[in-house]
Amino acid sequence: MARIGIFGAGYVGIVSGACLAELGHTVVVRDVVQERIERLNAGELPIYEPGLDEVVERNRDRLRFTTGVAAAVDNDLLFVCVGTPPTHSGDADLAAVWTVIEEIPPGTRAILVMKSTVPVGTGEKVRAALDARGLVDVGYVSCPEFLAEGTAVRDFLSSDRIVVGAYDEADGDAVEALHAGLDAPVLRTDVPSAEMIKLAANAYLGTRISFINEIANVCELVGADVQQVARGMGLDRRIGEHYLRPGIGFGGSCFPKDISFLKLLAGNSGYHFQLLNAVIEVNELQKRRVVTKLQKHLGSLRGKRVALLGLAFKPNTDDLREAPSIVLAARLLAEGAEVSAWDPVADASGLLKGVRLGASALEALAGADAAVVVTEWPQIAELDWAGAKSVMRTSLVIDGRNVLDPHELKRLGFAYDAVGRAESALSLLPETQEPEREQH
Ligand code: UDX
Ligand code: UDX
Repeated sequence: MARIGIFGAGYVGIVSGACLAELGHTVVVRDVVQERIERLNAGELPIYEPGLDEVVERNRDRLRFTTGVAAAVDNDLLFVCVGTPPTHSGDADLAAVWTVIEEIPPGTRAILVMKSTVPVGTGEKVRAALDARGLVDVGYVSCPEFLAEGTAVRDFLSSDRIVVGAYDEADGDAVEALHAGLDAPVLRTDVPSAEMIKLAANAYLGTRISFINEIANVCELVGADVQQVARGMGLDRRIGEHYLRPGIGFGGSCFPKDISFLKLLAGNSGYHFQLLNAVIEVNELQKRRVVTKLQKHLGSLRGKRVALLGLAFKPNTDDLREAPSIVLAARLLAEGAEVSAWDPVADASGLLKGVRLGASALEALAGADAAVVVTEWPQIAELDWAGAKSVMRTSLVIDGRNVLDPHELKRLGFAYDAVGRAESALSLLPETQEPEREQH
């Protein structure tokens, strides 16, 4: 069992810390924000992540939260999980990473493990900085995280793979050994390749989403149903069913940032990554297509009331970072619409100026001319739509995540529109249909 120090008590730092403690290691998680550490030590999580509180509680004897650098540094492995947000140019802001490096005292013997998403080549720069400071007994390993918010605990404890990129074989062995309790393949590689695996994986998933969103847009024009199309594609084991859900674009703290990181990295290295340009552009346009759909049904949106259901960038998280809802709300306000919104968990107060936030879905829907499903929270799919109809001014639903039953909504008297589901195709759809599981 190892002694681990983690820098950054964010989504990745807390989940990684708790899960490594679950594997039997002793973990100290350090964050610069006093209030965040106080809440964690008071048994309160500063983030919404299903199942995380049980893992933290279960491992309290091996898991400690502190603002003290010394307590975090005095360990065998030092995990870097601080934020690497994009700068205005879209490059990675590595200030927090360098702060951690500078906090490592002379004479330290440990292995630095990079979990934060960083541009390819960062490992080399860190290695050089450590050597320049005489920290030759501090090893460097890239071990990128692949945690998706909302399923992060499962994603850690049932990882699809663990990537370990190291300069020194023994350092790689030590990081691999940390995960001995997990039943996941370990890919041992070099540092730049490990850094690229993370960026390429996120960029590929974003590409799949932009692809199916474009297919959806064509389906609307040619009378097809993208849900059927995605199913037909996904049954092909070379394609698979995952990340083929059309909607109103991807968001979150990772995809938009990592895709722009990779695009800029390629550009700064002399290669024009055309595909990623398209992925980003398609995603931005997809967030705005809802406005065109609303105008198709309501004409000018000036003075119309539009209710946005769901604000978080996806269900099961309170995270609003790069959430499509924020762009959509701003577009609607710019078109002169009155916008109301509701989310079961995410607190958007202070973020969505000019938007009336409802304490419930029905409160947000009161007097609305249209309801837009923005985030596919189960609470929204299972909403009392008959009740919704009774409080709305006009019965129009734009299903931005294709999670509602078109027949049910029509039976209730709603005008129903979705993403990539042509009217003609919907009318041919059998009443209800269970999706087939993909045959591996
Ligand atoms: C972070 C990175 O942003 C992402 O690139 C990487 O893939 C995973 O780790 P996340 O955990 O979602 O993602 O970030 P965030 O929730 O913002 O947490 C970062 C934490 O680091 C914050 O709690 C912040 O207070 C802390 N931090 C930041 C430090 O402890 N020290 C610093 O110098 C800066
Ligand atoms: C992602 C990666 O999944 C994870 O491996 C990585 O470590 C961090 O980035 P996350 O950002 O939490 O995780 O969310 P994810 O579930 O991947 O969704 C990202 C965005 O894509 C969301 O806005 C989601 O709504 C959208 N999405 C996802 C689609 O529009 N269609 C899909 O089929 C899947």
